[in-house]
Order: sequence, then C-alpha cells, then structure tokens
Amino acid sequence: MNTICQKITFIFNLIILVSLPAFGISEPVELRCEMIENPVGIDVKNPGLSWKIISDKRSVYQISYHILVASSVEKLDNNIGDLWDSGDVKSDQSHLVQYNGAELKSRKDCYWKVKVITNKGESEWSETAYWSMGLLHYKDWYARWIGFDYAFPWDDDSFHSRLSARYLRKVFKADKPVKQAKVYLMGLGMYELYFNGNRIGNQVLAPAPTDYHENIKYNVFDVTSALNEGENAVGVILGNGRYHTMRQHYKPYKIKNFGFPKLLLQLEIEYADGSKQIIKTDNSWKGTANGPLITNNEYDGEEYDARKEMPGWNTVNFIDSSWIQVDYVDQPDGKYEAQMNPNMKVMETIKPVGITNLSGGKYILDMGQNMVGWLKIKVEGNAGEKVKLRFAEILNDKGGIATENLRDAMCTDIYTLKGNGIEEWAPRFVYHGFRYVEIAGFPGVPTVDNFIGEVVYDAIPQTGSFTTSNSLINKIYKNATWSIKGNYKGMPVDCPQRNERQPWLGDRSTGCYGESFVYDNSTLYAKWVDDIGYAQKSDGTIPDVAPAFWRYYSDNMTWPGTYLMVADMLYRQYGDTEPLKTHYASMKSWLDYMKDRYMTEDYILTKDSYGDWCVPPATIEEGRGKSANVKHPSKLISTAYYYYYSGLMQRFARIAGCDDDVEYYANLAEKIKAGFNQVFFREDQMGYGDNTLTDNLLALQFGLVPENKRDDVLNTIVTIIQVKNDGHLSTGLIGTQWLMRTLSENGRSDLAYRIATNKTYPGWGYMVENGATTIWELWNGNTAAANMNSYNHVMMLGDLIIWFYENLAGIKSDPEDPGFKNIIMKPELQDGLDHVNASYESPYGKIKSNWTRSKQKFTWNITVPANSGARIYVPAKSLNSIKEGKDKITENKDVKVVEFKDNRVLLEIGSGEYRFESKL
Ligand code: BGC
Repeated sequence: MNTICQKITFIFNLIILVSLPAFGISEPVELRCEMIENPVGIDVKNPGLSWKIISDKRSVYQISYHILVASSVEKLDNNIGDLWDSGDVKSDQSHLVQYNGAELKSRKDCYWKVKVITNKGESEWSETAYWSMGLLHYKDWYARWIGFDYAFPWDDDSFHSRLSARYLRKVFKADKPVKQAKVYLMGLGMYELYFNGNRIGNQVLAPAPTDYHENIKYNVFDVTSALNEGENAVGVILGNGRYHTMRQHYKPYKIKNFGFPKLLLQLEIEYADGSKQIIKTDNSWKGTANGPLITNNEYDGEEYDARKEMPGWNTVNFIDSSWIQVDYVDQPDGKYEAQMNPNMKVMETIKPVGITNLSGGKYILDMGQNMVGWLKIKVEGNAGEKVKLRFAEILNDKGGIATENLRDAMCTDIYTLKGNGIEEWAPRFVYHGFRYVEIAGFPGVPTVDNFIGEVVYDAIPQTGSFTTSNSLINKIYKNATWSIKGNYKGMPVDCPQRNERQPWLGDRSTGCYGESFVYDNSTLYAKWVDDIGYAQKSDGTIPDVAPAFWRYYSDNMTWPGTYLMVADMLYRQYGDTEPLKTHYASMKSWLDYMKDRYMTEDYILTKDSYGDWCVPPATIEEGRGKSANVKHPSKLISTAYYYYYSGLMQRFARIAGCDDDVEYYANLAEKIKAGFNQVFFREDQMGYGDNTLTDNLLALQFGLVPENKRDDVLNTIVTIIQVKNDGHLSTGLIGTQWLMRTLSENGRSDLAYRIATNKTYPGWGYMVENGATTIWELWNGNTAAANMNSYNHVMMLGDLIIWFYENLAGIKSDPEDPGFKNIIMKPELQDGLDHVNASYESPYGKIKSNWTRSKQKFTWNITVPANSGARIYVPAKSLNSIKEGKDKITENKDVKVVEFKDNRVLLEIGSGEYRFESKL
C-alpha cells in the first residue's frame, strides 16, 4: 500500500517537475495587453502588459521581469526586442506594466514575451503574445461614410422608428498572394460583416454603443484568411442599434438621435511582395434596404421575410443590378476610438423546459429561466407562413404572457417562411429579456425541440465561483449572475425588457464592485467611466444616464457619483489607476459644480433627486398595485455622499499626483462631518435624519458618526432591523449598497446572514420563494404596479455579492495593495452555514477559499496565487489549536503569526496552497 502511494507521489512529482521547469516556476502564462488577450487594433500608446506566474511552490514572488516586444515573430524568436527590450527590471510588478519602448504608430503589429526571475528560480520565456495598433489618427482613415440618410417607403419611421436593415456590398480584386489583411470598421448602429459569404467574427450587436456625438468605437479584424487571390466581395448588414434611436420622435428633447445607419470601412491589404492596397467605403459600393430583414428596433423586435433573401448577396457572383449606388452621408460628430472592451456574443444556449397549448393556435414556451438574448427557431412550412414570437418575463392568470411591464416595447419577432424544407432563424439586431414566449402561426405542432434560447452578453470571462451549504444563498447567487450578465450590453443597462434599457448610473455604483467578483468587467467598466466622462457638460454637471441616450441632468450626488465609484472599483479590484487619473480633473469639476451650486454655509448639500430609490413598502399588501416610481429627495443622503467622495478624492489625489488636493478634501470632509452631525443627528433617537435604516447606515459606514456615538448608532440600526423590521431590511437602492458590509464590519454578521437568508418579505429570498430566476427591480415585484416593474434588474443587489465573497468566503483585495496583490481573507462563520467554497481569478491567478465547519472544528483550504500574499484570519479558540497541514502552526518562512485577537489568529502567508484546521 505504502509503496503504491509512494510510487504515485513520485510519478506525480515527476509530472510537476516536467511541466514546471526551472525549480517549479513555469514560464509566465495568460499574457494580456490592456487586460485583453491578444487584442487587435488598440489605441493606447503605452499599453499595460500583464502575466501570471504558476508555481507549485510556496511564497513565490517575482524579483525581476524581462519583456521583449518585437515587430515580427521571427525577431522575437531570435530574442530581438526591436520595439522594446526592457532588460532585467527589478520589480515584483506582473500586472499592467506599462510598455516603454519605441513609439507605436498606427497599424503596428507587436509580438511580445516575458520571462521572470523569482525567489524560487528563473522561468523560461513565455509563449508569444500579440497586440496591434489601430488607426490612431483621424487622417489614417481614407474611407468615407456611406449609407442612405433617409427612410425608405416601407420603413415605419414614426413612433416606433423601425427601419429595414441596410445591406451594402463591394467587389474588389486582390490579385497577388496576401501577406496580411486587416479590416477597420464602424458600422452604426450595428453591423454584421462578411467576406466572400463568410461571416467575420462571432460578435453580435456590435460595436459597443456610445454617444455617437462624442465618440464612436471601431472594430478591427485580421481577415487575411478570408480573402481569395483574385476577386473578392465584402458585404455588411447595418441595423438601427442605438444610432437610429428607439422612440426618437417621442420626446426629442429627452431622447437623442443620431441619424440613419451608416458605415465607414477600410480594408488594408499587404501583399507578399510588399505592395499595399486599400479598399474603402466610397460611392462605388452598392446597397439595398429591400432585403429580408424588413424591420428592426431594439424595443420592438425584428421582422424577417425569408422569401426576400438574396442568396449570395455577399459573394462575388451575385447580380446586384437591382441594388442602388450608396450615398455619401453625414459623418457622425464623435471621435473615433478603438473598442477596448469585448463585443457581445452568444455566450450560452438554453433549452426550453416546456411548451403549453393555448387556445387559438397559440403556444407558450417556457425557457425555465428569465434570460436575455433571443430565440432561435427551427421550422418547416409553406412560403409566406408567419411565425410570431412575443416575449415576456411573466405569465398572467390565464397562462398567457403578461406584457404590461414592457410598457410600449413590442418585443415581437416575426419570421416569414420561404418554404423549402427546414428553416432556422434567429434575429440579428435586437435582444429580448424573457422567460416566456408566445408563439403564434407556427406550422404544425411546435415542440421544445424547435427552439433554443441564445443567451447574449459581453464576451468577458467568468472569474468567480461561489457555493455554500445554504441552498437559498446559492439560488440567490445564481439569480444574481443571470441578472448581471443579462444586463451587460456593451454598457451596463438597467433592464433588458421594457422601453428603457438605459445605462442608469445609480444602479451600478456599488454593483460594479460585486459584479467584478463574478465576471471580469474591467474593460467594460473602464469604457463606462469614459462614457460618463463624455457625458459631462462643460459646467461640470454629470447626468444620471451615460452614454446620455436620455438627457437627464438632474443634479444629485448618488447617480452621477457612480463616476467616482466605478473608478475606485477598477483601482481596488484590478489595480488599474488609469481611469481615476484620466478622469480626476473631471471628477473634481463635478464636485465643485455641486458644491458651488448646492452646498450651504454649514456644509449641507441640499440637492438630491431620487433619495433611497425604491424602498420596500412596509408590507407586501401595502405595495399592491402601487407604483414605486416615487422620488424622495434627501439632503442627508447627498451630504453623506459628498463626504464619502471627499474621502475617495483624497486617495485619488494622492495617486494622481495632485497632492494639494489631499489636504483640501480632508479639510472639506471635516467641515461636512461637523455640519452633518449638527443638522442631522438627533440625540433623542440616537440616530440620524428620519432615523431610517439607510440614514443611519450611511452615517456609520462613511465614518460620519463621532467615535463616542458609534455604538449607540449601531444599536439603533440593530433595533430597526430586529424590532421594527422583524429581521428584515428596509433599504432601497442606496441603503442596500452598504447594508451587509456595515453589519459585518460592526460585528453583526449574524444579522446580515439573517437578512440574506430570509424567505419572507422583503428580501432576495422572498423573490426566490416567489419563483424568481433573476433579481427583481422591486422588493415587492409580485404586487407592485406594472409601469415600473422589471424582473431583471441588478440595483437591489446592493453589496450582497461583495459580502458573499469578502465576508462569507473571505476573499478581499487590500485597498492599500490593490488588484489582489495582497489578499485579505477573513471569513465570517455563521450558525447554520457549514461550508463555503469560492474561487476568484485575480490578476495574479486563482484565489481559493474553501472552508467547512462543525461545532468544534474549522477546516480551511486556501490557494494564494504566486506573486501575491495574504493576511488571513483563521477562526480559532487559541493559537495552539491551529494546525497547518499535519503540524501545529509555527512561524516559518511561509507563515508569519501576527496576533491572536477576537477568536482569530492573524497570519501572513505567502503564495501557495494551504490547509488549516482549528478548534473553535
Ligand atoms: C430605472 C432605474 C433607474 C431609475 C432612476 C428607472 O426607470 O429602471 O434603474 O435608476 O429609473 O430614476
């Protein structure tokens, strides 16, 4: 037995030795440029380069790195870094090391690799990674904008602003062997690109939406292998997207419009003989708006008449004599920028779980999950038969779809059959938020096998996993992930179903932080910070929605302040300082704008808009039939937030090198704190303002409560939750953002846990109990009026996901050493919670925390990635009761014992895998 075990261990070690050469240090892996894998066409001149170190050893840290960047693979293979040879740089930085080589011009291809020296040995060179530069100057674009700047007779360009898709094409010659070909394009609102009949890329709903008056994202593809020697055809389909805006004629002062769909495309071919050719959009292209995609609009849906298909429209031999010459069209005002966040893709598919027959030839399909994307159908029938699909999140009493909460969004796709065998179809330029689909006009009897749900969201990696012994918490977490991903649409939107789908700022201020544990949202939110910056007016005001597709400049602290909170999240979670540095001046000008206009002499910020948006009605019955669309502006909230941002600004100022501002904000904060206490503290109730849960949470969490009153205010909070609320929350969008962490940080994780596991109203568990598969907009979503009642919103998640990871699993980035360079691991044990198993893919590698507890014993398996370290708090009744592996804990080179306090042993550990056991 023993010998077998020994043999297995020997073989295992051998495998590790073979795969981890150089004393257990592999070559650096997962090379990223601007946090993207091999990006094509970027426009950051000194991009940040990152890698990970994998090792089976403990306490591995990087001593130096050596980066080579070359203009060709051959050079790089010969270790020639003609663009940049960093030499050996003594540094432990392995994340976002700024490129510091030759100036990178437009179109440049950059091949790179890195090797590192660690305290445990030197690595080999990494595999080759890549990035290329986009078109950095306006003058690099030789192409002209083309399209049709008008509605066609069949377009319904009234209230619903539904246009047919525009199809554009061009045939060109590439009559020599091609060395490389890249296409740069902006297809607005959305495009699909083809060469010789083949679709380029698997992106959908591209490019990422922006305020096209400010900036436009271009996409770049390497299409070398898509070209033929000889004749070629390029074809593009254009949909409305956000360019030909939904409901643009409804309230033009509120809803921005940009114009009709249009295209700017440039194909740059480099031949093997060194010569070059550029194919560009100009008036030699032909187009038609009379194709099969007869209408599209994000709110209303897509209609497709397969009888009108134009087989081979995007190939050379297609006869396009019925097509018309395109026009040169107005050029959008916005600045051209490379898209640095991934496009959306069909990320998952789900099979429907049931189909029921309603009367009148209608069927209801149940996806079993409230999802965002579309339905792909498989159908066979006669030409001209129409399948009508209406999407909804819920059913009415009669078992039909309930569409009231969609407001006037028609959410309807119609497919007209061409009638020759099995036809498969899915829409291109719309998406729906739905669980149920009403199907009408389906030839024959549809079964679940005729349909598949294609789930569409930004193609970003999932970074986190989280399970516990509590099935309700697991279900809430699962619902949260569905809402989070569903509302990633190249920008974070509020909801995916009704006639809104806007990037409301307030919904994400803390949400983005929690979401970052689940998905790598670094590039998405970096883009969003830019979107917000672009939406700022010259006087400093920031809107509530950005990109400002809806013009809402209502002036308040909470929605616009998301600008700062997202930048803070990117700093804490990803160690990315660029957004806060780039936007520092604009953030400051916004704070000045608010102060100059709305701050009184005693430092009270008087202007707010929404207050604690959507607090739960006192009882579920009280909220029946009522609209939650009521604002409760609160000076307390806006003053508290001004104080909170003054704290953030001190950190930002330090990082941005604006040292004078540190003192300025520190002084201002002190004065606000004094004013706040003067005006809002009420001795008689030992609480603040209206003594709501939110009022007191903000005061305590933001550090506004004087030291000698903190216990009393905490006591007030506890009394509200335990006595008044019978163990429930009573917070809306604002208070919920701080609720769970405030309780845990003040020693009341037990209450937080109770709130998280309530099945009764109000709470996340109540949603689950009532059949939710996503997170609702309203705590009383099942009784509230339909006019503002989405079943797929993230705003009420508050800080729940952060609390799951940081406080239950114990995985937290140290704000002093951000991006998980140093990890704080402090799980909160709860009665009734026997285990938590979580992982998080950090910029340094995978962090794992897997703990189990019984009455007297705690077992904890931890992984800390190489080149990072952790401060871990092991629950234990004494220092002596802890074992690491098989042995009693002793100070050694990997583990430093710091202290024993409050029934926890604080240890500082280096990277590696550990197993701790302790007596409780
Ligand atoms: C949106 C919210 C948003 C709010 C602000 C709602 O209609 O769906 O998520 O934050 O308006 O007024």
